[in-house]
Amino acid sequence: MLGWLHSVVGDRLAGQGRESSSIERPADRGRTGNRAFAAVYDVFTMPAERGWLGRCRRELLAQVGSSVLEVGAGTGANLRHYPRSAGVVAIEPDAAMRSKLAYRSRSGKGRACAVLGADAEALPFPSGVFDTVVCTLVLCSVRHPDRVLGELHRVLSPNGRLLVIEHVRDSGRRAEWQRRLTPFWRRLAGGCRLDHDARAAIERADFAFERSVTFVPPMSLPWLRPFLVGTAVPLRRTGDSRKRVR
Ligand SMILES: C[S@@+](CC[C@H](N)C(=O)[O-])C[C@H]1O[C@@H](n2cnc3c(N)ncnc32)[C@H](O)[C@@H]1O
Repeated sequence: MLGWLHSVVGDRLAGQGRESSSIERPADRGRTGNRAFAAVYDVFTMPAERGWLGRCRRELLAQVGSSVLEVGAGTGANLRHYPRSAGVVAIEPDAAMRSKLAYRSRSGKGRACAVLGADAEALPFPSGVFDTVVCTLVLCSVRHPDRVLGELHRVLSPNGRLLVIEHVRDSGRRAEWQRRLTPFWRRLAGGCRLDHDARAAIERADFAFERSVTFVPPMSLPWLRPFLVGTAVPLRRTGDSRKRVR
């Protein structure tokens, strides 16, 4: 596995000699990140992780290939659901989240992976190197979702697959409430926008859903629903037309 990681992250892994490695870019040093959000995140999500969210993660991640990029990996909630065959590079720009992620990876509480401080808006990887990109509960909190999705498209191999779990904007009156609540919620929940339409953003970025389901989970917060779980493949531009790669 290390040979594969070397080709992706280059000499930043040199000398580490372990599958679980924490690699920081100079710009990350000294940044404390959002400590309060990182501290409460696992507590807040625990009931869902033990129920529907944990099941969604497990079923979705059973489909990953052998070279996996996870963006915005947070505290590492996905790590325990990856199959052993998966080589995982996890990026997380927030230092407080990333230290929990690195601990989980090292401690055997989840799949060991390479942990990188990087921003999904400008991924430090060559094009087409990953067969799977995992993006769970991230698109709502990135500043420029279109830029991030462009990067995910770029680093995926033409036969690769994007796996997502996102909460999405509801319809009707609830959508209006989500729009009004978003400025307050963003301050509490690490920049999360309740009114983001992740499905539309993914399709706009030249992905086509293979499978997807939008549903209201049991006992979800009334302003944080519905959820989208799906797999999507990258489309390739050929002249003026877009077509499915396979
Ligand atoms: C709600 S948490 C989700 C964490 C994890 N993916 C999960 O499923 O539990 C959102 C994460 O996205 C990360 N994030 C925000 N902006 C990002 C960006 N531009 N690039 C990569 N990650 C980002 C945050 O730091 C945070 O860890």
